[in-house]
Amino acid sequence: MGFKKDFAWGVATSSQQIEGAYLEGGKGLNIWDVFSHEPTRIKDRKTSDVACDHYHLFREDVKLLRSLGVNSYRFSISWSRIFPNGVGEVSEDGVRFYSELIDELISNGIEPYITLFHWDYPYALYKKGGWLNDESVDWFKSYAAKVVELYSDRVTYFITFNEPQCFIGHGYLRGIHAPGIKLPYKDIFQMAHNVMKAHGAAVIAMREAAKRPIKIGYAPTCSAHYPATDSPEDIEAARRALFDSPKLSEQVMWSASWWSDPVILGKYPEDGLELYKDYLPEITEEDLRLMNQPLDFYAQNIYNGKEIKSGENGEPVAVKRPSDAPVTALGWSVTPRCLYWGPRFFTERYRLPFYISENGAATNDVLGADGKVHDEDRIKFLSTYLDEFERAADDGVDIRGYFLWSFMDNFEWAEGYGPRFGIVYTDYETMRRIPKDSAYWYKNYIEQKSKK
Ligand code: BGC
Repeated sequence: MGFKKDFAWGVATSSQQIEGAYLEGGKGLNIWDVFSHEPTRIKDRKTSDVACDHYHLFREDVKLLRSLGVNSYRFSISWSRIFPNGVGEVSEDGVRFYSELIDELISNGIEPYITLFHWDYPYALYKKGGWLNDESVDWFKSYAAKVVELYSDRVTYFITFNEPQCFIGHGYLRGIHAPGIKLPYKDIFQMAHNVMKAHGAAVIAMREAAKRPIKIGYAPTCSAHYPATDSPEDIEAARRALFDSPKLSEQVMWSASWWSDPVILGKYPEDGLELYKDYLPEITEEDLRLMNQPLDFYAQNIYNGKEIKSGENGEPVAVKRPSDAPVTALGWSVTPRCLYWGPRFFTERYRLPFYISENGAATNDVLGADGKVHDEDRIKFLSTYLDEFERAADDGVDIRGYFLWSFMDNFEWAEGYGPRFGIVYTDYETMRRIPKDSAYWYKNYIEQKSKK
């Protein structure tokens, strides 16, 4: 059976990680601009001011995308490039930039997938309380509706949020991402609640603003646990490990169900309601109805998971990984089976067409004397993960697309420019882009899989 005929084969990026031009075209500051200018926040005191300079090089970048053989490209819009103050006045230059990017993609036969929010929150709105302010729901709604009004004549696919787990968990609970503060759990749950309300309000407004029928999705992340064996007990234990609510800790935002049950099933998970009851905001029926808007697809950014077996009473137990088990350059476990079980568990629970909106690896890439980058580890990573993903398709899981993270090496948030996730190498001195061996491998892979 394999991948469907009209499968979306793509690569992904985000605005803050590649665009640069942080003060050009009327763009307003966002929390990552401010955070990265602090002396101790980003490794080696780097900033995202220039990043990959994609803002100036986007035409060449689209040609490069075409040469990679992808039929789809997932990128995000910088909110403060469109609305410098988050709300109110629109920057015509910002509007034009994305319009030209979209035209360029389409004329090169590449389907744009727009993510509305990939963490670069307008600083002006942060100063008004950001996600803690109940008005944040309307701010995001207006921004989302504007983007759809502007581009839905040409763009069909829109994603509301990228990884709410991360921008709330890392940004406001652990304080290691922008804005770099540590708030009490009470505030964290309030923010999460507002983000999901903002998602729902945006979905309604986007459908109203659309010039043609559009498809809307959502892209959270998780550690996609998978069973040690195919026994029903281990499968159930892995499912529980994925969807049970985590205990209250710094990791509490890394829940698969907390962020998706309300949005797709219209209710918070019962176990979480009990575990977090002292910290929750008021949750009304009206809020839940707002969050729970019909979606066209569901996406997950999946990089790894834990192998789980069933304990004596059926409880999930993580299998100890051998000390020589493979890891990426960032020390993340390499666990290809998460790309079979993740899609399977999510489609069983949420019953929506499924995409992998990000998957990939940081590897120790060097530009060799031959002018090439021989990233065999990445090729091995991708081929084993994609084998598992294809196996999910073979077993009838409704998967629609795969977006490799990332198109090119870019600003890896608090890690700066050290980790290289791209299938295209970025030479940050010259801004030259050099396709790595994995780029040729991926191109060939897409060709083979699209033939059938
Ligand atoms: C994020 C990307 C990030 C990647 C690798 C995801 O968490 O959406 O922005 O660069 O993983 O860390």
